[in-house]
Amino acid sequence: MLDVKLFQMEKFLKPYEEELAPGLKDAQDKLQNATGLGNDFVGWVHLPRDYDKEEFARIKAAAAKIQGNSKALVVIGIGGSYLGARGVVDCLCSPNYNLKKKDTPNVYFMGNGLSADAMKEVLDLLEGVDFSVNVISKSGTTTEPAVAFRFFRAELEKRYGKEGAKERIFATTDKARGALKSLADAEGWETFVVPDNVGGRYSVLTAVGLLPIAVAGIDIDALMGGAAEMMEVCGKGGYECPSWKYAAARFALYKAGYPIEVLACYDPAFRFMLEWWKQLYGESEGKDGKGLFPASVEFTADLHSMGQYMQDGTRNIFETVVRLGASDNQLYVPKDEDDGDGLNFLAGESMDYIREKAMEGTLLAHYEGGVPNLIVEAGGKNARALGQLIYFFEYACGLSGYLLEVNPFDQPGVEAYKKNMFALLGKPGYEDRKAGLEAKLGR
Ligand code: PA5
Repeated sequence: MLDVKLFQMEKFLKPYEEELAPGLKDAQDKLQNATGLGNDFVGWVHLPRDYDKEEFARIKAAAAKIQGNSKALVVIGIGGSYLGARGVVDCLCSPNYNLKKKDTPNVYFMGNGLSADAMKEVLDLLEGVDFSVNVISKSGTTTEPAVAFRFFRAELEKRYGKEGAKERIFATTDKARGALKSLADAEGWETFVVPDNVGGRYSVLTAVGLLPIAVAGIDIDALMGGAAEMMEVCGKGGYECPSWKYAAARFALYKAGYPIEVLACYDPAFRFMLEWWKQLYGESEGKDGKGLFPASVEFTADLHSMGQYMQDGTRNIFETVVRLGASDNQLYVPKDEDDGDGLNFLAGESMDYIREKAMEGTLLAHYEGGVPNLIVEAGGKNARALGQLIYFFEYACGLSGYLLEVNPFDQPGVEAYKKNMFALLGKPGYEDRKAGLEAKLGR
């Protein structure tokens, strides 16, 4: 079972434990009883128990259909409609998943930017390859995925005709509203629902994440089971709950002058889980002039880049290390008779052992350099443990938002760039804004 350890944190957390308990209890009540800011969006809190079982079965059936008729799935979405699925697929199937020999389809993530080169590359890779598309957008109106979907839908319809394409397009969106829902109903595509009360960045355990994850062959029952286990623990609250410990420690550190949290992992497969975490915490906390800044590093690679700053730079960061446990493969350093590189002192040692020592050495060095360290012990690199980890981070994020007295479930700041972009692109209704922006740009 997942746990959080506080490395020599007595000086940061102990004095605050009692002081923070009422705030955490209040946050706990707000999450459990939907009485806090943004209470329309706490559907994820009991989701691992209350999820739609009929839809869950349809997700599995759709995944089997895609596995049966496609060698590739193009998943189109951005932000919360993208990062969770990518994080889980990379973590459990490898960042090199698409290069591996396997029985399941390749998974390409598109519509998460506006790069023509990235789009053309995937369109080229799909030449002669049977594929399906899962277009995901809760609002159904987000520009990046909508633009990408035009290209991939056109390609499907060119290849398979409108009727054939219908069998290969799966839309995950609002149950009733939005352009994507209207389009899907008009065209007869199969749809899956992003529940009204679950916001994008908390949606990985809905169809948003589950369909792509299932297509990659991951056991979604185990993923939900792990999340349900953590939901039970978090439901009880108290300092026994890892989410409480984590939320309390990071809040105490924030107050003590550490506004930057760096999430670290020692496995490159976790990179997109780090990205998922950054979105979850960045969009949930960063508002009203408050919030910790979430950054991430992949060790040991980034010890040779960010390591310098972390050890010696401005002292305003703390570090949270996610330990995934033993690797799937055990590799041992070979002995070399000549020992030209002087590495025979490691001969016979496992890569995991060497990594463990690197981690311990880094923890001590950073701590002594003035970087407080939290450790999240995940129960392993498997679907159940990842389900626990996802729920743990989501719950701690909700608690953290309420401790900061912000609404952890809205993202008003994201609208600013969208309005400017629409105006500059000449979207009807934005004419006045366009003139003002162009004047500022000196045109
Ligand atoms: O967390 C969020 O709500 C956002 O990151 C959204 O997921 C993102 O903007 C995509 O929105 P949509 O699913 O409506 O296309």
